Amino acid sequence: MEKPSKIAPANGKLGVLLPGMGAVSTTFMAGVELVRKGKSQPVGSLTQMGTLRLGKRTDARSPLIKKFVPLAELKDLTFGGWDIFKDNAYQSAANAGVLNPLDLEKVKSFLSTIKPMKAAFDHDFVKLIDGPNIKKGKNKYELALQIKEDIANFRKTSRASRLVTCWCASTESFVKPEDVHSTPEKFIEAMKSNHPTIAPSMLYAWASVTSGVPFANGAPNLTVDIPAIQKLAHDNNVAICGKDFKTGQTLMKTILAPGFKARMLGLEGWFSTNILGNRDGEVLEDPGSFKTKEESKLSVLEYILQPQLYPQLYGKMCHKVRINYYPPRGDNKEGWDNIDIFGWLGYPMQIKVDFLCRDSILAAPIVLDLVLFLDLAQRAGMRGIQEWLSFYFKSPMTAPGLYPEHDLFIQSMKLKNTLRWMKGEDLITHLGQEYYD
Ligand SMILES: NC(=O)c1ccc[n+]([C@@H]2O[C@H](COP(=O)([O-])OP(=O)(O)OC[C@H]3O[C@@H](n4cnc5c(N)ncnc54)[C@H](O)[C@@H]3O)[C@@H](O)[C@H]2O)c1
Repeated sequence: MEKPSKIAPANGKLGVLLPGMGAVSTTFMAGVELVRKGKSQPVGSLTQMGTLRLGKRTDARSPLIKKFVPLAELKDLTFGGWDIFKDNAYQSAANAGVLNPLDLEKVKSFLSTIKPMKAAFDHDFVKLIDGPNIKKGKNKYELALQIKEDIANFRKTSRASRLVTCWCASTESFVKPEDVHSTPEKFIEAMKSNHPTIAPSMLYAWASVTSGVPFANGAPNLTVDIPAIQKLAHDNNVAICGKDFKTGQTLMKTILAPGFKARMLGLEGWFSTNILGNRDGEVLEDPGSFKTKEESKLSVLEYILQPQLYPQLYGKMCHKVRINYYPPRGDNKEGWDNIDIFGWLGYPMQIKVDFLCRDSILAAPIVLDLVLFLDLAQRAGMRGIQEWLSFYFKSPMTAPGLYPEHDLFIQSMKLKNTLRWMKGEDLITHLGQEYYD
């Protein structure tokens, strides 16, 4: 990919389209509004709080990322979405119970105006919920065309000059890529014949990408991770990224595991279990949806620890992940990790992590950053898979044949170096020999 010669300015409004207006989406929208009103801080958002170093350590140049690259400003964000329930964003946020009533009250009038459009839904993909706000059509192709119409209408009514879609709807049942996902032509035929492996999330992705709208996938579903959509993204000059927001337990894993590997400490086993009580947890009770999530969570350690390169340290590691739906917890998940490591001469040690985390509080700033960075990539003419956004995902998408990079610190370096590269600044290698010449 060539370096962008020029990045178009972020003029006008940026419309954010959210399939799924549940806990994550409403926490994101409420948070943006609270920050815009000066009532809170955008903690956890790299685009809002992060800096990056430019030049030598002695240069003392560390601008805020949002001052260094031309990102859309929060005041210019406008929101729309789809859901199978008719609740507006305020009602949905109140149901989700992530934010306390005091905070929600401050943004009630704003959230109440955001009403979900009818969803493209298929019960076969999300078995444990059902709702009344659903599109009707002869086949999946008709539903996808209706989503395209929704996008065009939103563009007009919101007067947004640019749009970005971020999938924040439920985790769908596990599907493997098949021949019908291999080309745009076969994909259209499959939509028309209601092929059982065409998931609703793929319809939103198809509609977005063919409307020139970048797409981020926050769930572990395939969605944009199939050749047909990737080809369309390439042909339509659209940026895409995914999949599955990296929050909670997996975030901890990708912080800790690179440390063990860097110090050549061995790992015998890693047992992770969670209790959570939100709607996401309810959906994950279904074995099909859980399998999609499990695949996404399990691959992380294999890629970071590279047992094929270090068979004595990681060749026998046992990795298990459990998710338990436990309603009393609501959105406040508890994740336990029991980590069996070994050191010098093979002597065993244990580490226990008990993370009392708030899932949607960790996910909301990721949605914000992805929306702003995808819009930036789009204006810079960067099309197709945006691997530099791996930082935000449990299962980062890559070009065919490449293994994904899961190490949070490599991902962070890659992201920041991409921003430097976009602006023609020197990349930072951390070599530092020049300080000793
Ligand atoms: N919260 C996190 O930390 C986190 C981390 C990684 C991934 N995710 C993923 O993000 C997604 C959202 O999580 P959440 O906690 O907000 O879940 P949620 O259940 O609160 O919200 C999802 C919403 O999507 C709606 N929905 C389902 N199918 C739809 C469809 N086809 N079209 C439109 N709407 C549809 C549901 O009605 C629900 O309101 C889930 O897939 C979850 O696995 C969340």
